Amino acid sequence: MSVQRTIPLCIPDMDDAEVQAVAAVLKSGWLAHGPMNHEFEKLFAQFAGVPCAVSLNSCASALFLAMRASGITGEVILPSFTFVASANAVVTGGATCVFADIDYDTCCIDPAHVEALITPRTEAIMPVHYGGQAADMARLAAIARKHKLRIIEDSAEAIGATCAGKPTGSWGIGCWSFYPTKNIATGEGGMLTTDDVALADRVRAMAGHGIASSTWAREKKEKPWLRAATFAGYNMRMSNVLAAIGVVQMKKLERMNDARRKHAARYDALLKKEFFDLPVEAPGRKHVYQMYTVKLKGADRSTFLADLRAQGIGATVHFDPPVHTQPFYAEQLGFGTLELPVTMKVSSTIVTLPMYPGMSEDDVGLVAEAANAAARKHRA
Ligand SMILES: Cc1ncc(COP(=O)(O)O)c(C=O)c1O
Repeated sequence: MSVQRTIPLCIPDMDDAEVQAVAAVLKSGWLAHGPMNHEFEKLFAQFAGVPCAVSLNSCASALFLAMRASGITGEVILPSFTFVASANAVVTGGATCVFADIDYDTCCIDPAHVEALITPRTEAIMPVHYGGQAADMARLAAIARKHKLRIIEDSAEAIGATCAGKPTGSWGIGCWSFYPTKNIATGEGGMLTTDDVALADRVRAMAGHGIASSTWAREKKEKPWLRAATFAGYNMRMSNVLAAIGVVQMKKLERMNDARRKHAARYDALLKKEFFDLPVEAPGRKHVYQMYTVKLKGADRSTFLADLRAQGIGATVHFDPPVHTQPFYAEQLGFGTLELPVTMKVSSTIVTLPMYPGMSEDDVGLVAEAANAAARKHRA
């Protein structure tokens, strides 16, 4: 059976509340970083259970500023099975990538391999919480404590996931994304969270031209026109307009994640295990299904995907090629011959199926049925 209408990979959950929040900001005339940023940061810090949250223009900026503000220049251990932004932040931040393999079931960094890669030059671990699945933070935190390493979490894909009851992004410096496919969306946007107040202040100043106070905060001071940079910074701030969307989205986060989990359970029940290895929710961890990804068994992935896409189903791949095989990393940084067997196996078989809160039960059923049929048809 073929699907009669389009089911895209993702549709951000936006309704009248977001429209009204944006309209109110536009009418207020305060478009740049402003009062809604403070509101968004307050809500986000509460949610993550940390004292500090800094709103930024992207997660890539959060990762970069996390690197720079913590002064890391040595080796950072991270997975190659991630979006390239994780590794780019290590490189542009002035440090060295050391790629670890992943665990097949969770697709997150393998703690045993992390420990084996530690050298006297290692300064940090950067776990990536893949597609809504928390990495094994309990083990990674113990390794970090033992070897006195920092943790910078790429929590772009896991807003609301937990490990041992503790949110991802709260185990070290948390870096988050609000790109439209993420668990909450502002279009472009990111957040950095930390329990280190001095680090948060440094990040805020770095994101605001090296000036320690924001325009909004200066307005309340005696001489708001005085702007003094204490170092050469960047402009990586989030606008008041996008922060207003973020405030509304935060209030919907739990409901949206519950919907994702319900859709995932339906996919789990309908997809045939003879064709797919299904996503795994590791014991003690909460998966929030930013993506629903399966590993295709014994079928040609290109024809499988082409078949689904021809039927209007926005199936795709996250992530192939893995970072260490991409031209800059393979050729210029010399990672081309690095062997990461699980990473290679997963990246060559992984498929992302549509997942967003507004999917109906029928949508999930149609995608599952089409995926089962395509996997049978394109058996290698
Ligand atoms: C794992 C991971 N890290 C970082 C990013 C970058 O996020 P942003 O687009 O907000 O810079 C993404 C977004 O796609 C991601 O999936």
